[in-house]
Amino acid sequence: MVQLSERTYYVGVNDFDKVLFEGLWPLPYGVSYNSYIVADEKVALIDTVECGFEEEFLANVKEAIGERPIDYLVVNHMEPDHSSLIAYMLEKYPQMQIVANAKTVPMLKGYYGTPEDRITVIAEGGRISLGSCSLSFLMIPMVHWPETMVTWLTEEGTLFSGDAFGTFKAVDEDVVDNPDTFEEYRDEMIRYYSNIVGKYGNPVQTALKKLSGLDIKRICSTHGPVWQDCIPQVVALYDKMSRYEVERGVCIAYGSMYGNTAAAADALALELEARGIPYAIHDLACNNAGDLGVSGALRDVFKYDTIVAGSPTYNNGIFPPVETFMKALQARAVKGRRFYAFGSYTWSGSSVNQLNALAEAMGYEILGTGLSFPQAYTREKCDMAAIADLLA
Ligand code: FEO
Repeated sequence: MVQLSERTYYVGVNDFDKVLFEGLWPLPYGVSYNSYIVADEKVALIDTVECGFEEEFLANVKEAIGERPIDYLVVNHMEPDHSSLIAYMLEKYPQMQIVANAKTVPMLKGYYGTPEDRITVIAEGGRISLGSCSLSFLMIPMVHWPETMVTWLTEEGTLFSGDAFGTFKAVDEDVVDNPDTFEEYRDEMIRYYSNIVGKYGNPVQTALKKLSGLDIKRICSTHGPVWQDCIPQVVALYDKMSRYEVERGVCIAYGSMYGNTAAAADALALELEARGIPYAIHDLACNNAGDLGVSGALRDVFKYDTIVAGSPTYNNGIFPPVETFMKALQARAVKGRRFYAFGSYTWSGSSVNQLNALAEAMGYEILGTGLSFPQAYTREKCDMAAIADLLA
């Protein structure tokens, strides 16, 4: 538990055991599930944490408020990493009333069988008084689910923002940021955004416009640090990512069966390095310990303006991990990128043409026909210096 102000407390938990967030996204540095308490004449709990942390979560809550009852449980977002202890907390606090919007109600019933008489439905601009302060509610649909809302504590300028402004990587014991925290979390914030929220750039833009009128002094997201010192950088990054704005640089994302497409990818990386072109390289099949695969490649697609996809021809098509990556780009409506394809084949090369066709359908600028080379990688077959010049 960390006290954030006279009234507010952080009561979330770190998870270092989960391997894949949403069953998909690696967590090399863990993740936090953030929950908060506002304790005034009445007490409100903002969201819960993922199941499996019942004892730690309840201990945090009691460290903050002792044996005081909780009057309200505000449900900003129903994804189970935040909602799966709702039933547990309703049982522990039998007088507690859930505060949620109309879109949340069927999810509460469907996931947890929450009885209707435990739910108070609020709408856009709704408000509940806790005594000397009050909480009001603003809907931010599709950031990250349709029912998502934020909770605003006017008296402290505190925004309980749900997944918005969240990040992978567990929090340290201070929880609250310092001037260096943004850089420390920047990559994991981009990876979280690109993996989880990246599909919803337009709703994020709508939410940012709606929240722009608030005088925000503290952002309490559901994942990662509490933002105070770094609010301008965090908001600017979310704005940039949701506009799909990037910098000049190259994300090499490849899959390889026997190392030949991988060798070409490595050779290209060396050429980019020699030219001082910013780049990242990802093995989408995760052949090495610590590879972030599609998760890491998506992060760097949200950083750089050029995507280089490498795939051997497999069953006369694209190697499956690379196909998954291309579908992930489609699903996130990633736009405004330059694209180059390469890959090896044994008797019939079709992967490069198929990659180019997918990229063209997404409106990318195709930088040449690509490099499709037979069998083993050799420097003679693969003029990576020329390709690096093309990408510069
Ligand atoms: Fe952290 Fe969309 O849940």
